[in-house]
Amino acid sequence: MPADAPADRFDSTEPYYAAHRPGYGDRVLDYLVSHFGLDADTRVLDLGCGAGQLAVPLAARTGDVVGVDPNAAMLDHAREFADSEGARNVQWLVGSDADLQGLAADIGTVRLATIGRAFHWMEQGRTLDHLHSLTADGGGVAIVTDREWLTRGTRDWQATIHDAASDYIDDVPERTGPVSHDDDPWDELVAEHGFADVETRTFDLRREWSVEDALGYVFSLSFCAPASFGTDQSAFAADVRERLAAHDEPLVEETAVEVIAGRT
Ligand SMILES: C[S@@+](CC[C@H](N)C(=O)[O-])C[C@H]1O[C@@H](n2cnc3c(N)ncnc32)[C@H](O)[C@@H]1O
Repeated sequence: MPADAPADRFDSTEPYYAAHRPGYGDRVLDYLVSHFGLDADTRVLDLGCGAGQLAVPLAARTGDVVGVDPNAAMLDHAREFADSEGARNVQWLVGSDADLQGLAADIGTVRLATIGRAFHWMEQGRTLDHLHSLTADGGGVAIVTDREWLTRGTRDWQATIHDAASDYIDDVPERTGPVSHDDDPWDELVAEHGFADVETRTFDLRREWSVEDALGYVFSLSFCAPASFGTDQSAFAADVRERLAAHDEPLVEETAVEVIAGRT
């Protein structure tokens, strides 16, 4: 099971996260730039920034970025990613949603606050209230999520990985298909916490995975962290390779990135 403390949830996943989690694609970044008017004078906060999948490409499109994450090892990977991209305009701070108030002076006022693949970990109403007070007029918040992830995808090869993981570790979340927030609409929550003109945009995309990337992705998931496999990690990897070898088709994922945007 994932640990409860925010800093520990992704323990032992960090190198896999950095190497195998995909980015969000240029269309999502272009949308954020145009919708929130990002330019050389604007600052962006990326909360739950992980290894920088959103923060680093945003740095190339705005004046500067503050990436905040409770997992210091994740931030080390984010730093390496930023260095490799030549992004010098990013500051990395250790902290979780619970630390936003204390970090307010370091973060300053931002045009845009983004949260990528991390809002489900946060105390959401309180986080939105803090982000409202940190964002400038004309700016706002953007919650960015994948509509599915590998073990919740709709393809047979994804079911194969899920079956294998369930054979090795307990408490793998049930396969329920693509994520839906129908019971807990985040767009309504964003509006309830003072943001205006809330809109949800969906960006379709197709990803083709190698077996090693798919495997690395699995180890990047909090509930499939390498530590959860103990000494069976290599056996699991070999088993997945063998099971996927039986699939004739390429490992294709037709998915989408969803952005919920609201203005301050
Ligand atoms: C799935 S990763 C997403 C990383 C990156 N934002 C992305 O888009 O790929 C989730 C990140 O949220 C962080 N996290 C977990 N609980 C958090 C919390 N309460 N507040 C802020 N970040 C949190 C984790 O340390 C991890 O780096």
